[in-house]
Amino acid sequence: MQILRKASEVTPDELRVLYAYPDGGPHVRANMIASIDGAAGLEGRSGDLGADGDRRIYRLLRALSDVVVVGAHTAITEGYRQPDGPALAIVSRSLQIPVDYAPLSHPRTLVLTCSTAPPQRRQALTRAGATLVDCGADTVDPRAVIAECARRAWPAILLEGGPRLLGSFVAADALDELCLTTSPVIVGGTATRPVHVDAEAAHPLRCAHLLGDDDGYLYARWVRTRDQSGDETHNTTRVPR
Ligand SMILES: NC(=O)c1ccc[n+]([C@@H]2O[C@H](COP(=O)([O-])OP(=O)(O)OC[C@H]3O[C@@H](n4cnc5c(N)ncnc54)[C@H](OP(=O)(O)O)[C@@H]3O)[C@@H](O)[C@H]2O)c1
Repeated sequence: MQILRKASEVTPDELRVLYAYPDGGPHVRANMIASIDGAAGLEGRSGDLGADGDRRIYRLLRALSDVVVVGAHTAITEGYRQPDGPALAIVSRSLQIPVDYAPLSHPRTLVLTCSTAPPQRRQALTRAGATLVDCGADTVDPRAVIAECARRAWPAILLEGGPRLLGSFVAADALDELCLTTSPVIVGGTATRPVHVDAEAAHPLRCAHLLGDDDGYLYARWVRTRDQSGDETHNTTRVPR
């Protein structure tokens, strides 16, 4: 397969094949954007780093997924609404989500939390119509999130951040791939990186493809080099379901 491509020369059908989820069990894909100097946001929001080409990929990845998993901080900061196709799973331990946050009561929204979450907040969100699922004791365990998605027949999992949630998946060795857009700008400052992992360790990934567009954006798809059994992961893309 040709790894380097010009985005404008890739047809919509080819793009769907390039980003197809592999067949089989649950697969966790993250989609993030960063500046050239590795900032995950500009003035606290990632949307300001994007442009039309990035939004095209963003929409496609959502369309291919069964569920969008997102940290509560990101869902609130970025003004998340219920996605058109996939379900929405919001991750929070504190449950400090406003009770009038619109997606909460949607039948295809879950709040993934843990058993030590504050009982008063649990009651308030339940009263507001939210569906809460415990995925761990002190923190939300990425493996439990994946098991819950599998139980609901949502194998195509799309993690949209933020950096700390993504970091917890990386630390748990539960991230299968990272789709990373590089925005053609240096922003400086102290913004966080797109993946925040506390402990320093190498988590190798392989570049499955790299697209570039005329606006200077780069779209990389990084996949795990090996699964836990030691076998090569999907090196070739498969036709979307
Ligand atoms: N560049 C990008 O592509 C991109 C993507 C998304 C977000 N962002 C930016 O990143 C910033 C937010 O960063 P962040 O790292 O704070 O985002 P985040 O991961 O969405 O927020 C962390 C919050 O999510 C919950 N959370 C995450 N992992 C958890 C776990 N394992 N167990 C329990 N709760 C967990 C916690 O919620 P509670 O505090 O409620 O317990 C935690 O406070 C925003 O400015 C956003 O714009 C950038």
